[in-house]
Amino acid sequence: MATLFQNPISHLLTIFTLFCFITIPSTGANYGFLKSIVAKKIELGKEKLSHFRFYWHDITAGKNASVVTVVQPPSNASATSFGMINVIDDPLTEGPQLSSKLVGRAQGFYTLSSQQEISLLMAMNFVFVEGKYNGSTITVLGRNTVLNKFREMPVIGGSGLFRLARGFARLKTYKFDIKSGTATVEYNVYVLHYY
Ligand SMILES: *[C@@H]1O[C@H](CO)[C@@H](O)[C@H](O)[C@H]1NC(C)=O
Ligand SMILES: *[C@@H]1O[C@H](CO)[C@@H](O)[C@H](O)[C@H]1NC(C)=O
Ligand SMILES: *[C@@H]1O[C@H](CO)[C@@H](O)[C@H](O)[C@H]1NC(C)=O
Repeated sequence: MATLFQNPISHLLTIFTLFCFITIPSTGANYGFLKSIVAKKIELGKEKLSHFRFYWHDITAGKNASVVTVVQPPSNASATSFGMINVIDDPLTEGPQLSSKLVGRAQGFYTLSSQQEISLLMAMNFVFVEGKYNGSTITVLGRNTVLNKFREMPVIGGSGLFRLARGFARLKTYKFDIKSGTATVEYNVYVLHYY
């Protein structure tokens, strides 16, 4: 035993070398915080494709106002309001009328992100309130050229019943009041998800 502790540094080196030799060939690397598991373990269920249709209301004024401008465009010379940022908590309804059934809310922001045309970068969470979907979210991040008839944005994820969601949203303006800026947009969202 005495010789074992005579040179503790070389002893440690030997152990370290042995350790690398044993663990690296079997796992590639030793990361204590990460391991592969089978999907069954987190009970994802079967993957399925769902189609949602609802109407998104961006209301600029009045008692139901749902959008606030938090950053004005830095220069009024920009015809495209380049640089403006709006934060939204917009109602999502089953039908095109605001008074129709509320299915959720779109919470997030959009920024005017083009110097050449009216185009938004949108980052939103759709938070559903209906039945078993109550509290589950779908996240949309994309480019929205609002004056075009059809637009499309990616669904980049989700939570709750929409874990690992991916898909896309197709948008079509239903109503736009150019004076106030209030808009109603039809969203058709196609999502691959589990449950
Ligand atoms: C842009 O116009 C608004 C309202 O007309 C004004 O309050 C703001 O100061 C202007 N901004 C610049 C950078 O000129
Ligand atoms: C506010 O929204 C409700 C429906 O949620 C609607 O019945 C009401 O007319 C709206 N009020 C205004 C001022 O637009
Ligand atoms: C949705 O969940 C919230 C709490 O997370 C609850 O207050 C609300 O009543 C629920 N709504 C429905 C329709 O179940």
